[in-house]
Amino acid sequence: MNDTDHLTGENRLPQGRTDELRVELGGRGYPIIVQCDAWDSVVNRVRQSLPDLTHTLVVCDEAVRQRWGNPLVEGFGETGRCDLFTVPSGEPSKSLESLGRLWDWMLASGADRRSVVIAVGGGVVGDLAGFAAATYARGIRLVQLPTTLLSMVDSSVGGKTGINLAGGKNLVGAFWQPSLVVIDTATLRTLDDRGYRGGLAEVIKYGLIEDADFFDWLEANADHLLARRDDVVARAIMTCCRIKAAVVADDERETSGRRAILNYGHTFGHAIEATAGYGVFTHGEAVAIGMAMAARLARSLGRIGDEFVARQDVLLTACGLPTRWPEADPQAMVPVMKKDKKVAHALLRFVLPTRIGHVELVACDSLPEIEAAILACR
Ligand SMILES: NC(=O)c1ccc[n+]([C@@H]2O[C@H](COP(=O)([O-])OP(=O)(O)OC[C@H]3O[C@@H](n4cnc5c(N)ncnc54)[C@H](O)[C@@H]3O)[C@@H](O)[C@H]2O)c1
Ligand SMILES: [Zn+2]
Repeated sequence: MNDTDHLTGENRLPQGRTDELRVELGGRGYPIIVQCDAWDSVVNRVRQSLPDLTHTLVVCDEAVRQRWGNPLVEGFGETGRCDLFTVPSGEPSKSLESLGRLWDWMLASGADRRSVVIAVGGGVVGDLAGFAAATYARGIRLVQLPTTLLSMVDSSVGGKTGINLAGGKNLVGAFWQPSLVVIDTATLRTLDDRGYRGGLAEVIKYGLIEDADFFDWLEANADHLLARRDDVVARAIMTCCRIKAAVVADDERETSGRRAILNYGHTFGHAIEATAGYGVFTHGEAVAIGMAMAARLARSLGRIGDEFVARQDVLLTACGLPTRWPEADPQAMVPVMKKDKKVAHALLRFVLPTRIGHVELVACDSLPEIEAAILACR
């Protein structure tokens, strides 16, 4: 075992347990494979899914290159051409400069329409490599191999790709569905605790927005999740992917409003990230506090009662996530929220629950109520 492993032996499953689902998007549909500790089999899985594979372009986060990227490059190289591009870790890599370097490298590698981009890393690499795949030669195939919990349950599924501009996040991009997603829980072993827990905030979000039984199950399994028990983590990931896949199948391009439910906690959360300053909270931590605020707003609007708020707080806390921010400042946060993309016709809109397992997109222009929800989480 590598000395950076965060998982002890007894928490591992026998290798190779696999589950599979399909994102139903007609001709653009694709499988999502969730497997326990079988990284050695990834190359074969990709080959089985894409039998005409001759040239792979592995785009890999620097932090995972040695442990998780190199074995893939070796494996793909055994029967075909394989080139490796390493992306420096962190959000700044989702930039036009990185994208330009990646495009140039693809050209220099002799990439053509039949080449396949393999994204190995978290959401940063998935979004960047995905957008490169969407645009190079007007679009080539993409395989997502997510290595953070957040990217496993969120960014690798659904086809949103893109980069940031100096003026804001995710401002340039494309909908470009992958041909295959393979999620292997083994890769989570090298992820640090804070990064892992951030992903748990999104996992909990899925229970809250869409699946009350899943929320019950999360409550019962919070300890195992926090301890990263392989089978429990794999089952949670599968459930989240199933929910995201269904939402995406209903509303691939975010036109009906259905896809917006995935933003529960995110209107407050983005304002928390923006006003706290870079590095204070991870995205998942900000979403956890954002869900705490959204639940309080929903309660003050009479949509839910105390029990919802309490159960949500308890589960977030049990998963090592914050539900409060003593420095939260409505005067700073509300202007940011007004710039959020869910503002329609100058009205603020929030994804708010009516019960565990159900949320709705609600217009709310009552500033006192919004401010009170923020202050309630200080
Ligand atoms: N496309 C979508 O639908 C979508 C959805 C949600 C978020 N996103 C985007 O995803 C990005 C955030 O994703 P993220 O949280 O995965 O961040 P990330 O890709 O920056 O990864 C977080 C950190 O973990 C490191 N890392 C990755 N895998 C690791 C592993 N297995 N072991 C050790 N370290 C590892 C990375 O180097 C990085 O430092 C944001 O840019 C966000 O906009 C996109
Ligand atoms: Zn999120």
